[in-house]
Amino acid sequence: MAQVKIHTFDAVIVGAGGAGLMAALYASRSANVAVLSKLYPTRSHTGAAQGGIGAALANMEEDSWEWHSYDTVKGSDYLADQDAVDVLTKEAINTVVELEHMGLPFDRFPNGKISQRRFGGHMSKTTGRPVMRACHAADRTGHMILQTLYQQCIKNEVNFFDEFHVVDLIRVDDTVRGVVAIEIATGEFHIFHSKAVMFATGGWGRVWEVTSNAHSLTGDGPAIALRRGIPLQDMEFFQFHPTGIFKLGILITEGVRGEGGVLINGEGERFMGVRGYAPNVKDLASRDVVSRAIYLEIKAGRGINGQKYVHLDVTPETVNRYYEEDGEDRRIDRAYIEAKLPDIADFTRTYLGVDPVTEPMPVQPTAHYGMGGIPTDVHGRVLLDAQKNPLPGFYAAGEVACVSVHGANRLGTNSLTDLVVFGKLAGKDMANYCQTAELLPLPDGAADDVMAEFDRIRNSGGGVKTYEVRNKMQVSMTENVSVFRTEETMKQALEDLEALRDEYQKVEIQDKGKVFNSDILEAWELGCLLDTAEVTTVSGLARTESRGAHARDDYTERDDENWLMHTLYYKEGDGYRLDYKPVTLGRYEPKPRVY
Ligand code: FUM
Repeated sequence: MAQVKIHTFDAVIVGAGGAGLMAALYASRSANVAVLSKLYPTRSHTGAAQGGIGAALANMEEDSWEWHSYDTVKGSDYLADQDAVDVLTKEAINTVVELEHMGLPFDRFPNGKISQRRFGGHMSKTTGRPVMRACHAADRTGHMILQTLYQQCIKNEVNFFDEFHVVDLIRVDDTVRGVVAIEIATGEFHIFHSKAVMFATGGWGRVWEVTSNAHSLTGDGPAIALRRGIPLQDMEFFQFHPTGIFKLGILITEGVRGEGGVLINGEGERFMGVRGYAPNVKDLASRDVVSRAIYLEIKAGRGINGQKYVHLDVTPETVNRYYEEDGEDRRIDRAYIEAKLPDIADFTRTYLGVDPVTEPMPVQPTAHYGMGGIPTDVHGRVLLDAQKNPLPGFYAAGEVACVSVHGANRLGTNSLTDLVVFGKLAGKDMANYCQTAELLPLPDGAADDVMAEFDRIRNSGGGVKTYEVRNKMQVSMTENVSVFRTEETMKQALEDLEALRDEYQKVEIQDKGKVFNSDILEAWELGCLLDTAEVTTVSGLARTESRGAHARDDYTERDDENWLMHTLYYKEGDGYRLDYKPVTLGRYEPKPRVY
């Protein structure tokens, strides 16, 4: 290991988004913690979560954590583990107040309390209407969470290793001993030797062509875990957010609909209400329901001018007309939109030349969020099997983890809640673990496997370009494993992925140097994307039902008798094995969902 630098810490956290930073803050109270991020921390993707963080503060109207639990379980199409959901929704309340006390600049109601807005699937049991539960800082809520937590971490002297790209987990039998990372500035390999490791690496939306996810969301965490014998859970459930900017995929927050915005098709209809998609809550149904409705409208030729998009209209004229029709006692104007949705207004003016105060925005569903991931318990402890045996010292939190609180479909705002609640619990547990755990020795050649893979990529002469393989994967996954899928389309995707695996071996990079070599790192990331695409497709093909975000045209019904269970995908040699574990039910019996 002559050319590898070794660092030693109690705990290493990979990823500096909301979950990683919250965990670092808590773990660093008693442990010596390093946070490694392939980005500068405040560029992490938490910053892209716009509209709000869900917590039943009841600042403006009646609400309770039990209602929040019920909505989350219903939104999940009953696949969420209900004990974990209760932890999420109860802890949400204190944790949002804690963020406020850290200095997070939430919007306020005139009475000084944190402002809350409506979001899809969050309901009042008293009024039967959407409830104001999304605590927000304009439409920059995730951004503000990141800034706040990063400042707290700096204050608490957390050790940051920015632009260190983690490429392997050091696992010896049933212990973890650290990670291998590349320092992007120098191309040098480093080992971070530790008692505990936490993955908070985010999602893998770059598997698809149109996505709200940044370029960095390449599934590194799940792919590394998989390669080290850890299963991935419920990967067939990938959320398409209903409103991405047409073709670009950039997120237009659900907060737009929370503030009264409506979806309109090419025939000028507010279709969520007229065609039975969500007769009660219309545009504020859960995301799976709204994305399917948009997709079906477009397929039926009712996109705008027959094209593959619909309109999202938040112009005061339209919103106020519908408020009046719906008997709502509120109205909006230009100043309100500029104050509540400044980033959205900026994005659409910049990217589309569309002013949302006077014109509707062209939108389409965009690949947004993985409900599945590395299986964990509510303390972030990674679970190895259907019996829930943990891998001691290994933790995961945030989008990369599957606790499972989102089941088959996540409600908007619950991603930010998940990050801070489970980031905190994981950080606390990791700190306790480090109090008694020993620092086990590094195995010989701990970095050898991954260094050999980087050598292979560096020296490959096959002439294939990374972007060519990536584009083909994205096109196939978008065609075949998207809002709707069938056995035929998923088999086609698997065939395509198999061919792309061969092409991947022939990827030839141009930059053979070491300094800031994004060429080689992108090629390595492509391997992670191919892995996550394959796990998604295999898991989806096996699940012969429709549930939440997994909507099959050939098995159109939810099948609780056979499929009320979580998928576990294991990599075995060049093949795989699937296993299943039951869903933890609770107060809420599975019922048909109506919005
Ligand atoms: O629509 C949004 O603001 C996204 C938030 C989320 O994914 O929770």
